[in-house]
Amino acid sequence: MEDVTVGLVGLGTVGTGVAKLLTEHADRIARRAGKRVRWKWAAVRDPRKARDVSLDGVRVTTDPMEVARDPEVSILVETMGGIDQAAEVVLAALDSGKHVVTANKAMLAERGREVFDRARRAHRAVAFEASVGGGIPIVQAIGVSLAANQVQGLAAILNGTCNFILTKMTMEGLPYAEALAQAQSLGYAEADPTLDVDGTDTAHKLVVLAQLAFGANVVTSDIRRRGIDRLDLADLTYAGELGYAVKLLAVARLSEEGLDLRVAPTLVKKGTPLAEVRGPYNAVRVVGDAVGDVFFYGRGAGMMATASAVVGDLIDVVTGRALITSRVLNPWGDADHPVARTPS
Ligand code: NAP
Ligand code: HSE
Repeated sequence: MEDVTVGLVGLGTVGTGVAKLLTEHADRIARRAGKRVRWKWAAVRDPRKARDVSLDGVRVTTDPMEVARDPEVSILVETMGGIDQAAEVVLAALDSGKHVVTANKAMLAERGREVFDRARRAHRAVAFEASVGGGIPIVQAIGVSLAANQVQGLAAILNGTCNFILTKMTMEGLPYAEALAQAQSLGYAEADPTLDVDGTDTAHKLVVLAQLAFGANVVTSDIRRRGIDRLDLADLTYAGELGYAVKLLAVARLSEEGLDLRVAPTLVKKGTPLAEVRGPYNAVRVVGDAVGDVFFYGRGAGMMATASAVVGDLIDVVTGRALITSRVLNPWGDADHPVARTPS
């Protein structure tokens, strides 16, 4: 069987999950991809750090550009996070003829247009299923499976850390800081957890979904957003007594005035599907003009759920499906709908 050489940029929570799948399930992945995946590189910040996966036969570097420029590498997997450095690595990889798989919604939200312009010109795929909803295949679902629809709206829980914190506070009475510390140690939170709790990470994911669902060229600053960082346990308790759960919701609504996008802690009636989403789980309710109401649910953060999406993308890239899908998704193409800007 032929080989395909892959470079992994970032070996933290998600990168380690990817490495585990590639090494522990190499035969399964080779059968499904039609080629054996050779993991050549791991780019990390600290090469002396103990890793939870064997690095036998893998070259370790602290310079991600070494991976992006290695002519032997066909696919660069970006799981390092951040915005500008990650974007430069991805652009360099595309320029040197590589396909890219990324889990990085912050980079896509801020530099997506440039990245996809470059990918189109280079005839290369950028696959990004893991960037929204962790293990939930929501990118493929909205971008491909529901492509016949005009999405009319969506409401979603898109941040596992916030949902974990809200669940722990409500169900176990855990103080906010303790719940956040647990989310960090379980690998759910961003390197800078402020991005989770102030609603920015959810806004980044909403930018990506809005691009797929509405072709809306929005940037993060178009989205009015509030996080969970100013909520008290008392707010959650009173809401519960009135029959509501508090959830950090991302909402998109298409109307005659345009597209309204927002992120805010929201009262959700107990017993409804979104109210019952607990822990690091995410959920997305999409309303399409043909399909009606569709609901997606699953683990939104964490090592193996996210790695499932990354490696699924990797298999799609190896088979050539991702390049075809890119044409259907056409992310960051021309805007279909202007964003209705309302004062915050
Ligand atoms: P993480 O645990 O902080 O891992 C980041 C990795 O990148 C580490 O291995 C780090 O090296 C390496 N790295 C960072 N900056 C680097 C640089 N300048 N040069 C070389 N290596 C560098 O982060 P993560 O949680 O895996 O998240 C990675 C990406 O996936 C982010 O974009 C995040 O938003 C996204 N994501 C995360 C999850 C999740 O549940 N965690 C889910 C979906 C998407 P060291 O190990 O040496 O520090
Ligand atoms: N920090 C993110 C979250 C990781 O908690 O949802 C998944 O994107």
